[in-house]
Amino acid sequence: MAKPPLSMKPTGWFQVAWSDEIGVGDVHPMKYFDQEMIAWRSESGDLTVMNAYCEHLGAHLGYGGTVQGEVLQCPFHGWQWNQQGRNVCIPYEDRPNRGRRIKTYPVVERNESVYIWHDINSRDPFFEAPDIFADFGDDRSAADYFPQQRLFRQGLQMHPQYVLENGVDFAHFKYVHNTPIVPVFTRHDFDGPVSYVDFTITFEGDDGQKIEDINSGVEAINGGLGIAVTKSWGMIDNRTISAITPVDESTSDVRFMVYIGRPAGPSATRDPARAEAKAHEFGAEVIRQFSQDIHIWAHQRYSDPPALASSELEGFTAIRRWAMKFYPDGRGGSAAELAATDSR
Ligand code: FES
Ligand SMILES: [Fe+2]
Repeated sequence: MAKPPLSMKPTGWFQVAWSDEIGVGDVHPMKYFDQEMIAWRSESGDLTVMNAYCEHLGAHLGYGGTVQGEVLQCPFHGWQWNQQGRNVCIPYEDRPNRGRRIKTYPVVERNESVYIWHDINSRDPFFEAPDIFADFGDDRSAADYFPQQRLFRQGLQMHPQYVLENGVDFAHFKYVHNTPIVPVFTRHDFDGPVSYVDFTITFEGDDGQKIEDINSGVEAINGGLGIAVTKSWGMIDNRTISAITPVDESTSDVRFMVYIGRPAGPSATRDPARAEAKAHEFGAEVIRQFSQDIHIWAHQRYSDPPALASSELEGFTAIRRWAMKFYPDGRGGSAAELAATDSR
């Protein structure tokens, strides 16, 4: 294990919870980006994510704060804060403190997840959090899939970028995931803050297969460093979301979700319980595969500059340069120096 040399304050959308963890009236304490934060849901269902400390005398609103309709009330002296983090009531004064504001974060709820926009310079979001259904543009929705299966691992000594690099790392598939052959990339698009990687891969058969004969693959959309969604084709229909969120200067929380497609055909309608059990089994296998990656990431040391094979150079160079967009403090390893030299 080694503390990542890359900035743990990257810009982008990051998952901080699942929507169903925060019901109406709930106040949910959490820590990300070295900040104590809370997420709370108003009576009308609006979700707010803000820093946790009351601007009055500093009570932690996640421990005893209560939702009152559309505002949050501090447990210490009853001051009330609205969804923009503004003080709207001091119960023992006739006017609120209009000057003080608790920092709030742009938040979206998508695919059952809560994503916040994090930027140390408080810039507005400059891209959208990916949507595992809409973004693949194939008219499929959650209704076409069995319920989301989840993995949650907390406090791992790893950086979000490790997970993204996995997407260009063709050589690891055979060793970490026991794929019979090495996958081939058919798309590397690192132009914008949302990047796209497609590859041909199979998890079945033996190593006598030729890549030209493989009729299955994966398409990945990386929405910044924090959230990646994938869609498989030509194999059991599955989609995944991986979401890595820095907690402090050395650790991250990892959330991984998988959806297995509902089969059409007559056998599925004949025995729905069996179809669901099978889907559960396959989902567990996809999660197991991802856990194999985590086992590497959680103990790896970020290698910079890495000793790349010539066939790896293009992919890794592209992804490490792309990652620079998300490090406003310039702590992006030697790629940062590279980018700085380029722009001179
Ligand atoms: S500390 Fe929150 S109202 Fe006093
Ligand atoms: Fe992997």
